[in-house]
Amino acid sequence: MANSRSGDSMTDRIVRVLETFSDDRTMQTATEIAGRAELPLSTAHRIVGDLVAAGLLERDEDGRIRLGMRLWELALRGSSALRLRQAALPHMERVQSQIREHTQLAVLEHDEALFLERLSHPDAGANITRIAGRLPVHASSSGLILLAYADPTVRERVLAGPLRAVSRETVTDAVALRALLTSIRRRGYVAAPGSIESVSTGVAVPVRDRGEVVAALSVVLPRDADPTAALDVLRDAARNTERDLRALR
Ligand code: PHB
Repeated sequence: MANSRSGDSMTDRIVRVLETFSDDRTMQTATEIAGRAELPLSTAHRIVGDLVAAGLLERDEDGRIRLGMRLWELALRGSSALRLRQAALPHMERVQSQIREHTQLAVLEHDEALFLERLSHPDAGANITRIAGRLPVHASSSGLILLAYADPTVRERVLAGPLRAVSRETVTDAVALRALLTSIRRRGYVAAPGSIESVSTGVAVPVRDRGEVVAALSVVLPRDADPTAALDVLRDAARNTERDLRALR
């Protein structure tokens, strides 16, 4: 038991097991899970076995473990993310067919931008976003929208730092970031050239439900593209998503 944390509940342990999976680490052995979850091997094996039996984890022929479809099924059931995605998707498709780059939908989740959907054109430029992946709120265009309209306690927590530089042009100075957020609220959109990657410009607008900003709709354009046309299309898509969200209540 040398590597176990004392006093943690069974729920804590299960959560630690599930959290060892990431975007870049989707398959692991039970032994690797034990190490990363800081659990004794026998405990990890037992929890993994129980979760496999329940369908929350799956085991392949080589004994490697991945997150189970049942987890996905349960997570989506009645989720606000699914309702948002459902309302936004037809309008994202319209944006996508007109702009032919990348179109994305993100929500604020634990002080980060969590991406619910992404549509891409085969010839579109670079994009580091993944569905169910996260980007820092101060660096991505979607994140900047979500942060600009977030509860002040969230905004202050993020502004207190650390504000990591994702690219050379990420705004990492709290005073400059605060001013940027004020200007985003005044204008109702953001264009963030080079903030995540020097080769692209993220353009994002807010999506509201019952008066609150609940999501950001964005496109990722090549760095030197004029964002004006994309902005008009994005604003229409946000308005139409808001209308359909009302109908889905
Ligand atoms: C952005 O949202 O600003 C963004 C996201 C992904 C990229 C580039 C920009 O690859």
